[in-house]
Amino acid sequence: MKAIVQDRYGPPDILECRDVPAPTPAPGEVLVKVMAASLNARDWHVLRGDPYLARLAFGLRRPKAPILGTDFAGVVVSGEGFEPGEEVYGEFGGAFAEYVRVPADRVERKPASLTFAQAAAMPLAANTALQGLRSLEKGQSVLINGASGGVGTFAVQIARARGARVTAVCSARNADLAAGLGADRVVDYRQEDFALTGGRHDLVFDLVGNRSLRDLRRALVPGGTLVISGGGVFSGGSLFGPLGLIVRARLAAPFVKEKIVVLEAVQSRAALTALRELADSGQVVPAVDRTYDLADAAEAMRYMEVEHARANVVLTVHAAP
Ligand SMILES: NC(=O)c1ccc[n+]([C@@H]2O[C@H](COP(=O)([O-])OP(=O)(O)OC[C@H]3O[C@@H](n4cnc5c(N)ncnc54)[C@H](OP(=O)(O)O)[C@@H]3O)[C@@H](O)[C@H]2O)c1
Repeated sequence: MKAIVQDRYGPPDILECRDVPAPTPAPGEVLVKVMAASLNARDWHVLRGDPYLARLAFGLRRPKAPILGTDFAGVVVSGEGFEPGEEVYGEFGGAFAEYVRVPADRVERKPASLTFAQAAAMPLAANTALQGLRSLEKGQSVLINGASGGVGTFAVQIARARGARVTAVCSARNADLAAGLGADRVVDYRQEDFALTGGRHDLVFDLVGNRSLRDLRRALVPGGTLVISGGGVFSGGSLFGPLGLIVRARLAAPFVKEKIVVLEAVQSRAALTALRELADSGQVVPAVDRTYDLADAAEAMRYMEVEHARANVVLTVHAAP
């Protein structure tokens, strides 16, 4: 089968679309014919091996798993608990390929209302948004820093569906996108400092990692909740990236009056079921910026890194019937 392979860490150019053996599912796994796969910030971190410290998990000299990609939507070929031909979606390593083998609890029936491309955009990004906003209640106010990205575009819609008032922080070119998804107010981070003038919120969801803990806390009402997810943009290679903010947040958490949550989104079938219901009820519609063919994955990663993609970028792997 064709797959997007990386033999070392580096820029998008190092990615190769290569013939590799198709995977054979083990007991408890499902073999999926991938129709579409989406790019996530995680894939970029793995491609670059950035921050360097993350290589302890990804692989010291080169990625332990050579096939890139995490989020997919496709059709079941074989496997436990599913009928061949069932349309599914899920989250597992090696998704930038014609076929992927996935533990059965990481795959779920695809939202019927979505195309394969839309469904592929959901698992990791929308699950991160769902879990980051877990404590958000109706009538509360939430500020989302990084509202126009893969996670942020889902976060705006989920917050809105919960009945919250949403302040979205992103660049001016994406203001209409954020407003169209349901943001009540959009803050252009180049014109306005949300820590100073963005108001006080019950929950601040940080998806960028470029502000100090002090600034993020400043945007909260007394006793509010700060959710930190990571963040980080390429700046020639970083040792710690967003890990510095995360460590500071963990150290400060017991001593401050706000609640600080360092998000580690957990993948599960139950999460995919909840996301499917949000999609099929029309409360969440994935925003897809561009689609590329699988063979053009390097170009898609370059677009994401250099041209600052908005919302979700998707690879078409097999043509939909
Ligand atoms: N903890 C977890 O479990 C978990 C799971 C998934 C993802 N994450 C992390 O969450 C982060 C966001 O992921 P994503 O896929 O949404 O990334 P993304 O698609 O690249 O989105 C980045 C967002 O940041 C905004 N941004 C860029 N520069 C900014 C600046 N200087 N000030 C304010 N906003 C800025 C962008 O806005 P404009 O494009 O409008 O400039 C965009 O809205 C990633 O770093 C990822 O590692 C964590």
